[in-house]
Amino acid sequence: MCGIIGYVGFLDAKKTLIDGLQTLEYRGYDSAGISYFTDDGIQTIKTIGKVSVLRELVKAQADDIVSTCGIGHTRWATHGGVSDTNSHPHTAGKVTLIHNGIIENYQELQRELEEKGKHPVSQTDSEIAAMVIDDCYQGDPEEAIRLATGKLTGAYGFCIMFEDIPETIYAVRSGSPLVAAHTEKGSIIASDMVALVSHTKHYFVLQENHIAKITKDEILVKNEYGDLYGPTIHHISWDVGAAKKGGYDYFMMKEIHEQPEALRNTITPRVVHGMPDFSTDNVPDEIFTGIHRIVITACGTAMHAGLIGRNMIERLARIPVTVEIASEFRYQNPIIDQHTLLITISQSGETADTLAALKLGKTKGAKTLSVVNVKGSSIARESDYVLYTHAGPEIAVASTKAYTVQLSLMYLIAFRLAYVTKNISEEETRGYVENLMGIADKVEDALSYDSQIENISKRLTLSDHIFFIGRGLDYALSCEGSLKLKEISYIHSEAYAAGELKHGTISLITDNVPVVALATQPDVYAKVISNVQEVRSRGARVILITDINASVDASLCDHQVVLPETSPLFTPFVSAVVLQYLAYYVSVEKGLNVDQPRNLAKSVTVE
Ligand code: M6R
Repeated sequence: MCGIIGYVGFLDAKKTLIDGLQTLEYRGYDSAGISYFTDDGIQTIKTIGKVSVLRELVKAQADDIVSTCGIGHTRWATHGGVSDTNSHPHTAGKVTLIHNGIIENYQELQRELEEKGKHPVSQTDSEIAAMVIDDCYQGDPEEAIRLATGKLTGAYGFCIMFEDIPETIYAVRSGSPLVAAHTEKGSIIASDMVALVSHTKHYFVLQENHIAKITKDEILVKNEYGDLYGPTIHHISWDVGAAKKGGYDYFMMKEIHEQPEALRNTITPRVVHGMPDFSTDNVPDEIFTGIHRIVITACGTAMHAGLIGRNMIERLARIPVTVEIASEFRYQNPIIDQHTLLITISQSGETADTLAALKLGKTKGAKTLSVVNVKGSSIARESDYVLYTHAGPEIAVASTKAYTVQLSLMYLIAFRLAYVTKNISEEETRGYVENLMGIADKVEDALSYDSQIENISKRLTLSDHIFFIGRGLDYALSCEGSLKLKEISYIHSEAYAAGELKHGTISLITDNVPVVALATQPDVYAKVISNVQEVRSRGARVILITDINASVDASLCDHQVVLPETSPLFTPFVSAVVLQYLAYYVSVEKGLNVDQPRNLAKSVTVE
């Protein structure tokens, strides 16, 4: 949700910022802009459109200008429409800033400023923040930032330049992420490591309400009391290639193909002598004992991973689990106490609603465990315990590899939990683990289904509505398949529990309406097939996904996708690949930007 970057050092700042913004573009792509110090003060170039448009503009307008310090922004619009004026950076008096987040009380602050005769030129909350900082500025930037942020409510990550303090950037955050690094080529700060990784593998996370003063020689951080603070340095294990397309047309396709490796990286360190083991993650068995219920909370795809997790935990460990959409959970005064294990799932570790749900759970005394991809992210830091998925950076807005690795950890949690609570024997546990250890190979097999799914997809591009149906694990998968499809193809789609369709929604099934039916679970196979017959007899075009042992009457469907042979409980991993391909190819066939679907951003740091 908005990408921000600041650089000061020995390189060309304009180029460094724009290259960085290109890597951050997945966070928002409504508009882009940079501001940089020159001999004539701070210059700003900003425009609606993507970073490539900005790059051309900067080339045309400022190619010969030398600058070694600046800030850059790629926007996902919240307050104020998509326009050049509403683009960042925003300047007010001596202050120029970029902002990621939302200032909730901006109208009240605007009224106060207007009473002093100060009027904004844009419709953004961010410009009001710039005006408040400028209003507080009496020559001491840190004091101004401290005073101003004391007046703001909401979420923010700011990079700020003061006209009279050249070659210096100040940064502060609350709620929105910022990571920073000092290297021999200067200092850099950004919303995400992907913008830093071409410069360094060592970074630190700016803590909430700390203020960083960034110059080419150093980054000085002060805590909320104004004392110097030595941040913890982290190291990333992936390199710059992981954040590039590597020959694929889209990041999404690359990331689909990275799933076997991501699964191996995530599963293998948690299997010791054939048993699930979280000791290297410092997650003790005690968090699995003495709990009466589990609440899983997350958003979007991560929430769908939670649905699969619930199925596995309840099935194997016989502990009641609810899966809560984080944005709902936090406002429903949930019933949780010290006997509740709260599991949060998040790729970015920064999703505002998930983070708030986690904080709420903690205040109510729940034990907290998070499944997170980004190291050192807010959700990881806020949780009692963390299990990191080792997917590497996920750049495409549509989540693929992050989902399957989340599944793998939910399976491992279910196994360990069921084992320590004595609901499954050691032998059974070993059997499950063995299957999971083999799942990366099965996913690899499923990757070869690309041309089959591409052919099927070609027939779906003109559809207005597509339905996904299934039961149990397959219903959870349907939810994910449907989200993926609508997100990147803009075709309306719904996921339905197969047996529920006849309670209303079947009225929407008419001639040629595509229904993707998942029938991979032997215990409910016959039931799903009956539901398929129901839609078939209303004219639906059926795409049936089954396991290899299903005997299917040819008249039942238009297309059958037979999954690689996989033990039934583990088919979600391979079904996921088929559904990812389906969404991908429909989007490609429609000529859409697969990686950057309209209106969306990768990391949702606003509520
Ligand atoms: O970073 P998170 O996993 O917390 O993000 C949650 C959702 O915004 C995310 O899963 C979203 O639904 C996907 N991009 C959809 O493909």
